[in-house]
Amino acid sequence: MSVHSDVKRVTTHTLQSMKDKGEKISMLTAYDYSMARIFDDAGIDVILVGDSASNVMAGHETTLPITLDQMIYHAQSVIRACQRCLVIADLPFGSYQGNSKEALNSAIRIMKESGAHGVKLEGGEEVVESVKRIVGAGVPVMGHLGLTPQSIYKFGTYAVRAKEEEEAEILLHSADLLQAAGCFSLVLEKIPATLGKTVAENMKIPVIGIGAGRHVDGQVLVMHDMLGITKDFSPRFLRRYLDLYGEILGATRNYIKDVKDKDFPNDREQY
Ligand code: KIV
Repeated sequence: MSVHSDVKRVTTHTLQSMKDKGEKISMLTAYDYSMARIFDDAGIDVILVGDSASNVMAGHETTLPITLDQMIYHAQSVIRACQRCLVIADLPFGSYQGNSKEALNSAIRIMKESGAHGVKLEGGEEVVESVKRIVGAGVPVMGHLGLTPQSIYKFGTYAVRAKEEEEAEILLHSADLLQAAGCFSLVLEKIPATLGKTVAENMKIPVIGIGAGRHVDGQVLVMHDMLGITKDFSPRFLRRYLDLYGEILGATRNYIKDVKDKDFPNDREQY
């Protein structure tokens, strides 16, 4: 129960019992107060303050430039809006890869300074020690496997991952390691649906997919993609629920026209 209201907060335990009952988990990214407020009011289960903020909020080509301070700022804004949903914040590139002490310090900064309920980090075996250390400090950790955008320069492409047997085996093994290290949940990005199904069936913890097919335990989309604010990004896995780019473009053009035509403000819109 939140101290501020009677709304029952979604916790990591809620997500686990949703998986156990076969109830799908809904997750969206958000980076600011106003959008997070709408998603929370709508009943979203989890908001991810993703490092995709680097792309969709700051206009960078990759997720690599965003800093820990910037992620904390976004997470603070989202947390202020959310009464019900679980809020997870990404550990950005460079804030945890050095060693597990660095990872723990970064996770503690996010938790202390933003009030987020947990952190997400990318990678398999190489982050297991960090996951154990962060979880050991009482911080819930969500893993992230498959297409991990912080490694884009290693992959060289945003193509579907783990199509080949060898990479699929490594992914399955990494998922086991992350679960054993204490992750409460796992994101799988852009992998074959059959592999998503296998991972979700093998894992006790909830597996949330983005381009990982329908058999995983929940789905996540980047809000700008789902709302149609981004218009040049159309992967097969994306379902757009609005054409906000078109709506906002039209509204802005109407506003410009009204100002130029001296139609706005009218008599009723002034003091
Ligand atoms: O940063 C992000 O938005 C993410 C999602 C794509 C899962 O990590």
